[in-house]
Amino acid sequence: MDSHLKCINCGQTYLINRVIYHCAACGGLLDVVHDLEALGGQVTRTTFDARLGAQSAPYHSGVWRFKELVNPGLPDAQIVSAPEGNTNLYDVPRLAGWAGIEGRLYLKHEGENPTGSFKDRGMTGGVSQARALGMAQVACASTGNTSAALASYAARAGMQALVFFQKGHVALGKLAQSIAYGATCVQIEGDFDAAMRLVQMVCDEFGIYLLNSVNPFRLEGQKTIIFEALQQLGWRAPDWIVVPGGNLGNSSAFGKALHELFQLGLIDRIPRVAVIQAAGANPLYLGYKGGFRDKPTVKAATLATAIKIGAPVNYDKARRTLQWTNGVVAQVTDQEILDAKAQIDAAGIGCEPASACSLAGTRKLVTERVIERGAVVVGVLTGHLLKDPTVILDYHTGMLAGFEVRYANKLLTAAPDLESIKRALNSFM
Ligand SMILES: Cc1ncc(COP(=O)(O)O)c(C=O)c1O
Ligand SMILES: [Zn+2]
Repeated sequence: MDSHLKCINCGQTYLINRVIYHCAACGGLLDVVHDLEALGGQVTRTTFDARLGAQSAPYHSGVWRFKELVNPGLPDAQIVSAPEGNTNLYDVPRLAGWAGIEGRLYLKHEGENPTGSFKDRGMTGGVSQARALGMAQVACASTGNTSAALASYAARAGMQALVFFQKGHVALGKLAQSIAYGATCVQIEGDFDAAMRLVQMVCDEFGIYLLNSVNPFRLEGQKTIIFEALQQLGWRAPDWIVVPGGNLGNSSAFGKALHELFQLGLIDRIPRVAVIQAAGANPLYLGYKGGFRDKPTVKAATLATAIKIGAPVNYDKARRTLQWTNGVVAQVTDQEILDAKAQIDAAGIGCEPASACSLAGTRKLVTERVIERGAVVVGVLTGHLLKDPTVILDYHTGMLAGFEVRYANKLLTAAPDLESIKRALNSFM
């Protein structure tokens, strides 16, 4: 059977080329479902390992190397790829020690993608499907990284991109990218959740293709973060995978990826997924703590602007990930996020604030004895350090009101003579 769309609530199916984002029968989220039984014989560890180091399209991409599990029916000629993926998996013993991990801690740096975030993996999936569908216009609401990725991939595909974001709440690097890549950028005088509602209305009204992570082709691309990490680990499953949660696209994609790998026999056990939210933007955490009796939304507030989301569109799929992986949800304060970010940055790796939830959350879950000290943990760094330079300078120069700056690297100043420089270097010597 060909891949098709399927509602995660009622099971209603739709043809793969139908332009639809929610189930017409019940409003549920849609999955792209592949015929795993038919793929079973064709897709093995060896299939994917043999493509490592490929020099040409499509297999030189860390997304399309796994094409059978992303969009098997898509003609190669429709693929819009940078190529993306092939990001480093850093072994970080010093950061492991900081988090209390005595086993092993790896950080998968998705900030090393072409536009500096994991969103490129989703966008190559989504924009390629848009091209196959003959779409000329694409749109999203964004906390910044989605718009940067969409703007870039749309430009490369010759499509018009329209992006909505919350006025004044997008980090500098991301705003600059979206403008530079030529998207039509609209600042909404409302929060991200309002921008998200509006972009869906605009797409419906004008027949523009919606490329937020409610579009299941985005999530098929994002699954490859997991495929690639597992491949880098020689297909040995870690104990935990820790990921920041905003609109919950990654959280959703990771569960599906692990479920599929296990069904196909590429891994022999399913790691537990820990979703980490900012304490000021924690609807999944509240739902989890309340036993999922209701579906909370919040008015989001966090300096990790990438995850400043109060009504995540993928909530129901993230819940499924928690069920499939015996997962957990934790929350961390902005102070904990900044402390963890300073550690990651000073290790020479660097990331944007939201990404540091992975390390901050690991540390918290070790303290709470949820993650065992001896565990093997993969944390995902979702975005590049340069996405949000403002917060770095504010932190290190003590300009962040209300925060304790625990790991400041003070910027020194000296008059242009040796004595002044010696005085300034006192702390260095
Ligand atoms: C850097 C970064 N981290 C995390 C997230 C949250 O990802 P998700 O919406 O998949 O939960 C985003 C989303 O914009 C992001 O840009
Ligand atoms: Zn349905």
